[in-house]
Amino acid sequence: MSEVYDVVIIGGGPGGYNCAIRAGQLGLKTACIEMRDTLGGTCLNVGCIPSKALLHASELYETAEKDFAGHGITVYNLSYDLSRMMHNKSETVKGLTEGVAFLLKKNKVDRIQGKGRIVGKGKVEVDGPDGKTTLETRNIVIATGSEVTPLPGVEIDEERIVSSTGALELKEVPKKLVLIGAGVIGLELGSVWRRLGAEVTVIEYLDRIMPGMDAEIAKQAQRIFKKQGFTFELSRKVTGVNKTDDGLSITTEAAAGGKTKSFDADIAIVCIGRRPYTEGLGLEAVGIETDKRGIIPNKQFQTSAEGVWVVGDCTHGPMLAHKAEDEGTACAERIAGKAGHVNYDAIPGVVYTNPEIASVGATEDQLKEQGRKYKTGKFSFMANSRARANHETDGMVKLLADAETDELLGAHMIGKGVGEMIAELCVALEFRASSEDIARTSHPHPTMTEAIRQAAMGVEGWTMQA
Ligand code: FAD
Ligand code: NAI
Repeated sequence: MSEVYDVVIIGGGPGGYNCAIRAGQLGLKTACIEMRDTLGGTCLNVGCIPSKALLHASELYETAEKDFAGHGITVYNLSYDLSRMMHNKSETVKGLTEGVAFLLKKNKVDRIQGKGRIVGKGKVEVDGPDGKTTLETRNIVIATGSEVTPLPGVEIDEERIVSSTGALELKEVPKKLVLIGAGVIGLELGSVWRRLGAEVTVIEYLDRIMPGMDAEIAKQAQRIFKKQGFTFELSRKVTGVNKTDDGLSITTEAAAGGKTKSFDADIAIVCIGRRPYTEGLGLEAVGIETDKRGIIPNKQFQTSAEGVWVVGDCTHGPMLAHKAEDEGTACAERIAGKAGHVNYDAIPGVVYTNPEIASVGATEDQLKEQGRKYKTGKFSFMANSRARANHETDGMVKLLADAETDELLGAHMIGKGVGEMIAELCVALEFRASSEDIARTSHPHPTMTEAIRQAAMGVEGWTMQA
């Protein structure tokens, strides 16, 4: 009989590979099954990393085009080379996915290529390049991720009607780009192509952009994005996308019904959310329960089937790479008999537009729903000396603290580089800091982080900078 594994992980994305590495470190005999040729999942191959490579390159271009002059720098004959940008993106992805393969090897994890399927208690069949094999294991971890939510009646061809995957591979800059959905993917990838010259229209079903983010910050973001050239069509639903000789015709009607309007485009990106991916996984073989948010977990990442665990996008919670990573690591620790733990109240979210939007903890709307009494401190980057010197004054910091105990409950920011700055507030939330703790912590001057301190001082009304 072949060797029995301690853990077999299905899926090699951030949830799966972090689980595999930690399991290896803890001395468990581990295998990680991935059906793609490369490891790293959605995040490294077609998500976080390629999108950030294109966001960075296009932001550099737009900064040179629009902001250098304000700093006394003249640029002649500025241009970009899209194929070079795409090449750099692919090289970054290649380097990182190879890095994951190296880490699995270093931690003695068996990497197995193919599609995994649960065929019984402790049994996973792998359909790989060399045929089918069955692995025996004490524990199975499902980390199969998510896929694009389709829009009924609209077929994604990844040429003209694309998902995020196709939008990261366009051969040329579209003249007119329509985004269906004003969420994270739409705003990030819309920013890339707008900066490179596309005219971008965003069609959103709700009456606001970025649902889930703090409403005041989202409103400010919408104003800034509009100034950058985005056109927003809110409270509007797409009824069809028709291919024409010239491109696409996108038909819509008011979300409440009635008023119709159509939009021409060269490319449309369908970005109305993602859904858990568990196709062909054999969940029924061991009686694993699901709902529309994916595989139902208990607090310790266990499913309804004994010995089967679940992490990442295919289960409940935000569909974010760091959430998947945290769960993967904690799940391996649980399997090894340790006390792995994830604090779901302190998982940050960042939208990598310019300015960036970053958030951790509760929003004002959530606190109101909970009937919780809270105090608010705000500070605008307009009054921050570093932001003024850098000509990057758009945005603000907003902190929410418990009205009685002063414990920090939420932090919401929009501004240049706030995606890096939010980490300070994640630590503050983890350590259950008060707003006064932050206000009395020395912050370097002159930095954008001083706006966080000033917002914290604002909770008790003793903000000092103008
Ligand atoms: P995945 O990364 O989806 O990995 C699952 C893996 O399992 C896949 O590789 C799949 O091939 C494999 N698999 C599935 N079924 C099987 C099977 N039966 N057998 C074998 N293998 C299987 N998140 C962030 O935090 N920050 C970002 O900036 C960010 N940017 C994003 C940009 C885009 C365009 C997209 C689409 C997503 C982005 N995300 C971002 C979300 C992030 O990619 C996901 O939250 C993260 O990848 C989830 O990790 P996971 O391990 O749960 O799943
Ligand atoms: P999303 O959930 O962020 O936004 C989808 C938007 O589409 C919402 O505003 C929703 O109201 C709207 N919508 C839904 N149905 C619609 C319809 N029929 N017509 C018009 N609008 C409609 O989803 P998105 O942008 O597709 O991203 C998916 C997920 O990927 C994110 O939720 C996030 O978990 C992850 N992601 C994270 C990133 C990050 O962390 N920076 C970057 C990109 C993706």
